[in-house]
Amino acid sequence: MAEATLIRGGTVVTADEERCADVLVVGEAVAAVGVDLPAPSGAAILDAGGAYVMPGGIDPHVHMELPFMGTVSADDFLSGTACAAAGGTTTIIDFVIPAPQQSLLEAHRLWRERARKATADYAFHVAVTWWSEQVFEEMGVLCRDHGVNSFKHFMAYRNAIMVDDATLIASFSRARDLGAICLVHAENGDLVHRLQQETFDRGIHGPEGHPISRPPEVEGEAANRACQIAAMVGVPLYVVHTSCRQAMEAIARAKLAGHRVFGESLVQHLVIDDSVYRDPDWRRAAHHVMSPPFRSPDHQQALWGGLQGGTIEVIGTDHCTFRTEQKALGTHDFRRIPNGTGGLEERMSVLWHHGVGTGRLTPREFVAATSANAARIFNIHPRKGTIAPGSDADLVVWDPSATRTLGSGSHHSRNDFSIFEGMRVAGAAAITMSRGRVLWRDGALDACEGHGRCVERPCFTDYARSQTRRNTHFAPTAVEREEFVP
Ligand code: URP
Ligand code: ZN
Ligand code: ZN
Repeated sequence: MAEATLIRGGTVVTADEERCADVLVVGEAVAAVGVDLPAPSGAAILDAGGAYVMPGGIDPHVHMELPFMGTVSADDFLSGTACAAAGGTTTIIDFVIPAPQQSLLEAHRLWRERARKATADYAFHVAVTWWSEQVFEEMGVLCRDHGVNSFKHFMAYRNAIMVDDATLIASFSRARDLGAICLVHAENGDLVHRLQQETFDRGIHGPEGHPISRPPEVEGEAANRACQIAAMVGVPLYVVHTSCRQAMEAIARAKLAGHRVFGESLVQHLVIDDSVYRDPDWRRAAHHVMSPPFRSPDHQQALWGGLQGGTIEVIGTDHCTFRTEQKALGTHDFRRIPNGTGGLEERMSVLWHHGVGTGRLTPREFVAATSANAARIFNIHPRKGTIAPGSDADLVVWDPSATRTLGSGSHHSRNDFSIFEGMRVAGAAAITMSRGRVLWRDGALDACEGHGRCVERPCFTDYARSQTRRNTHFAPTAVEREEFVP
């Protein structure tokens, strides 16, 4: 018999239920969930008394070792998945971002290679950064042969990876017929470009110029456009890092109209506001430069409401870290500060503390937002995102009473700065298990390079069928019709 572990005496919480039960793990999978389960001979026993046993977190929005804005993000797949494990997360979904004109397949190979060192499981979304017959074909190959069912589109970062509406429409249509889901970074890149120039010309060169050039309207416009295009094409859409009321309202409108649109927000946006850009310390302000930027407290309230009300299904992090010397690329020009912040290690604790600890979320809703919804949306449920016989044994023993103070002195990120510095939170991972292997226990990390596996995600044949039948705006293209048999 494969190695067995019995997790005893905890309260098992999934998105659907909360009950006192033991969890038996055999090999890499959950074998049984039940009351007073007998321990197989030789089984390791983990005591979860007084704790919750939850599915390991899934963060569907991270960037490890990302070449971006003249540098490469500081955490790689090993340090990044170590952060994940220390925070209770057992699966990350990263983004393959081909340079314009680069083959999607070649970029995908490169990212797969980089990810081999991961200590926890990972998967990939692939960005469409340009359009051609080749991109059309390669999207099909990625879906068919490489377990990719999601394609990302940047509506910002002009002159780099931004795509125009024609590309959005072409790619959304292709994704629909493949049974894939589309993701968007929703900011109007042309407006940002114009506002950046005007802000800089007014003599504002520091990090305080960043939010001025990216107001909520810029995000709301793009989110609305993406929702409407996706609705007309008939493809499911996932709007990443929703940070403001305007973008959330666009998502809510689309949902109410019956479109399959999902909202993601970042834990950072829930708890940190835009006052950080007024910090007189350049370093501290620059470390908060990310897009979309931090918002005023009224937008934060709206995000919490959206999460509680179902407009926002997933809380991710967009973990994309840059050290001080990298942020310094923008010392004289805020437009050159590499955009990104960390949060992978802190996500679950911060959301627990500010969500469950304040009564805004129940433990089940917490599981939905941190793992189950992402697993469903990206089609890896019930293998991930729940605790049931046959599921991967990706588990976290969650101690609701453990307190810790967050900061760069204790985190596992390679970043020399933490945007959560000094934040005291209650609720932490006591044990994190990835496919039966304990990676984190009582504050000690046992990262095993290469333990992580690539999780292949099949396309949604049901989406493709229902959406294509419903859709009255665009018929499948000739090539698409050949491949797609309803
Ligand atoms: O500022 C951010 N969000 N950096 C990472 C890239 C992206 O836009 O997701
Ligand atoms: Zn983005
Ligand atoms: Zn991102």
